[in-house]
Amino acid sequence: MTIPGSPHIAYRGDALFIEDRAVADLAHEFGTPLYVYSKSAMLEALAGYQRALEGRDHLICYAMKANSTLAVLQTFAAAECGFDIVSGGELARVLAAGISPAKVVFSGVGKTRTEMRQALDAGVMCFNVESDAELEVLSAVAVESGKTARISLRVNPDVDAGTHPYISTGLKANKFGIAHESAVASYQRAAALPGLEVIGIDCHIGSQITEIGPYVNALDRVLDLVEKVEAHGITIKHLDLGGGLAITYTDEAPPAAETLVRRLLARIDERGHGHRKIMFEPGRSLVGNAGALVSEVLYLKPGEEKNFCIVDAAMNDMARPAMYQAWMRIVACGLREASPVTYDVVGPVCESGDWLGRDRALAVEAGDFVAVLSAGAYGMTMASNYNSRGRAAEVLVSGERALLIRDREQAVDLFRGEHLID
Ligand code: LLP
Repeated sequence: MTIPGSPHIAYRGDALFIEDRAVADLAHEFGTPLYVYSKSAMLEALAGYQRALEGRDHLICYAMKANSTLAVLQTFAAAECGFDIVSGGELARVLAAGISPAKVVFSGVGKTRTEMRQALDAGVMCFNVESDAELEVLSAVAVESGKTARISLRVNPDVDAGTHPYISTGLKANKFGIAHESAVASYQRAAALPGLEVIGIDCHIGSQITEIGPYVNALDRVLDLVEKVEAHGITIKHLDLGGGLAITYTDEAPPAAETLVRRLLARIDERGHGHRKIMFEPGRSLVGNAGALVSEVLYLKPGEEKNFCIVDAAMNDMARPAMYQAWMRIVACGLREASPVTYDVVGPVCESGDWLGRDRALAVEAGDFVAVLSAGAYGMTMASNYNSRGRAAEVLVSGERALLIRDREQAVDLFRGEHLID
């Protein structure tokens, strides 16, 4: 039995499998809470973008904020992927994974001078700059370091991507990007600064976008700008169209990456921009449906108004429900004959906001395992140590092979770097 949106996570008989491993066996072997990822699901998601871009000068830069575990980065790097980073920490991860910074773009609205220096020293391919003030600072830092920073401007196309307010980024009211109206002036400014070389244009309009329309609108706005900028004698070599493609958590039916990209390429060609290098920065759509957060049912607590299924994973392991009221599918790792009961699935953290799913029909008993699906993106990367809970272990599954790619955090890890006072 397959589960919508989760290729490679399916029931075989009564047992939930990820690729060729029973999820409950992994939970016994590695403990819970446990993140499990399907390597094939990640590579297939990437291949969708790659198929559409074949034969073109292109670079897919995986937005590693979605899942920055070193083995995940290695998996994508081995498949020719580049990376979109937003901090010095993410740069350090890329380097620790043995990845060439020549395929790295550095995004983000608040890069520090230290981060700029690190990225220049490493030799990143491009900085996606988000304000005039940042242009000035980056140029100064580059001159000081005796380097030239290759840049693109992240422009704000003022297009409504129709997503959750916290994850929509392409509107004027958002803190992101340079306003469409002032972009030409910012490009002129950039071109005149000594430490910078303009190479591209960038936009990113939001996340969990389920329609092609907003992408096409944003692309048109970007191409209008490219034409204006080039009329001023500034060459734009690449178009970076950002990330944001949705995945299926419940009944969303986003376009396949291949369909989206082909549609955008057709528009790019139609408008005579087919000679430019094409870049994307997908995060969620490469890893989201590849992962699950596996948890043990600790207690069933029936109540007058609500029944609670208390599990050992919590909002510190998976923040999305608490933070965005996100709906994530929760399934039992073993199917039982008993009729399902409606539960709120909650964790041990001392907050009413600590829930993973509300009003879920589950046939489970204490000691069973449940899996929160579509948890591969913005799960582990948003995990915290709240309530002094160690972060979960992570396992990468490929066929029958299950590799531990991150140890479970131990108590000593929680206060490493702290100092007792006399
Ligand atoms: N590029 C830029 C500049 C971004 O800000 C983002 C995501 C991406 C690419 C990748 O977007 P994606 O393909 O993953 O949609 N924590 C939220 C999502 C925040 C997205 C932030 N920016 C969540 O769990 O839904």
